[in-house]
Amino acid sequence: MAYLSIAISLIFLLYGPALSQAQPAAAPAPPGPTNITKILEKAGQFGTMIRLLKSTSTADQINGQLNNSNNGLTVFAPTDNAFTNLPSGTLNSLTDQQKVALIQFHVLPNLMTITQFQTASNPLRTQAGDSSDGKYPLNVTAVGNQVNISTGIVNTTVSNTIYSDGQLAVYQVDKVLLPLDIFRPSVAPAPAPTKAKKKEAPADLGPSSSSSKDSSESSDAGTLKWRNSRDIACAALVGFLYWIL
Ligand SMILES: *[C@@H]1O[C@H](CO)[C@@H](O)[C@H](O)[C@H]1NC(C)=O
Ligand SMILES: *[C@@H]1O[C@H](CO)[C@@H](O)[C@H](O)[C@H]1NC(C)=O
Ligand SMILES: *[C@@H]1O[C@H](CO)[C@@H](O)[C@H](O)[C@H]1NC(C)=O
Ligand SMILES: *[C@@H]1O[C@H](CO)[C@@H](O)[C@H](O)[C@H]1NC(C)=O
Ligand SMILES: *[C@@H]1O[C@H](CO)[C@@H](O)[C@H](O)[C@H]1NC(C)=O
Repeated sequence: MAYLSIAISLIFLLYGPALSQAQPAAAPAPPGPTNITKILEKAGQFGTMIRLLKSTSTADQINGQLNNSNNGLTVFAPTDNAFTNLPSGTLNSLTDQQKVALIQFHVLPNLMTITQFQTASNPLRTQAGDSSDGKYPLNVTAVGNQVNISTGIVNTTVSNTIYSDGQLAVYQVDKVLLPLDIFRPSVAPAPAPTKAKKKEAPADLGPSSSSSKDSSESSDAGTLKWRNSRDIACAALVGFLYWIL
């Protein structure tokens, strides 16, 4: 019986840490300088934009700029739906540098209120382009509260003001603003890659057989492997239990 309790406590020692790993969520961050990530998180439905702002370091850039200068910024934030509606593979086909340009194309280096769009002269400069060379231009036409945006590839409209203070304006757009400089039509988009050809099932087995075969193969492979050494230790322990009882 002593052996049994030793074995049981050993199992707890092995598996206990994993059971206690779930920690309560971190406390909310204290209020601080303007934070584009926080603003978009609060608004919801901007997960992809947040991810891209982070991975391209544009979020840090925006926050740094807002904290360290009096210059304003304007951010066009496409919804998650907007990214979902892109032709498949659009983001994956971009180099890291092009991803940076794509996200910076959504940022204007000054604060634009809805009213200011009405008198803006096209093309607007974006963070993706240099001030002089006219690269990555964005056109805007506004009447009243309606602000239309054209990139030469995409036409859309500002559908909501997410955030606005004296320094930063964040507008929701329902399409990703694809810049001509990256998505010029002469470079025809590559056809979506066709799926790797599946093994043809024998005709008499019916249409569902090939997919069920695929899934059973993959799960077989999974169960044949020991997940980790902890499992082996536990199995050894169980064997030891058998042996002593
Ligand atoms: C901005 O907010 C995000 C999420 O709320 C947080 O992870 C990040 O540390 C904040 N950045 C700064 C500079 O405070
Ligand atoms: C904001 O700027 C102040 C003064 O330049 C600096 O001390 C502070 O660390 C900055 N905060 C962030 C989050 O960058
Ligand atoms: C914006 O686009 C819509 C649809 O294309 C059009 O009906 C409207 O007149 C445009 N508004 C402006 C201010 O350009
Ligand atoms: C943007 O506006 C400029 C100036 O009006 C014009 O020359 C250019 O063709 C426009 N581009 C697009 C994509 O609408
Ligand atoms: C965008 O709008 C302009 C003028 O309103 C039009 O000429 C152009 O064809 C539109 N482009 C797309 C991609 O819808």
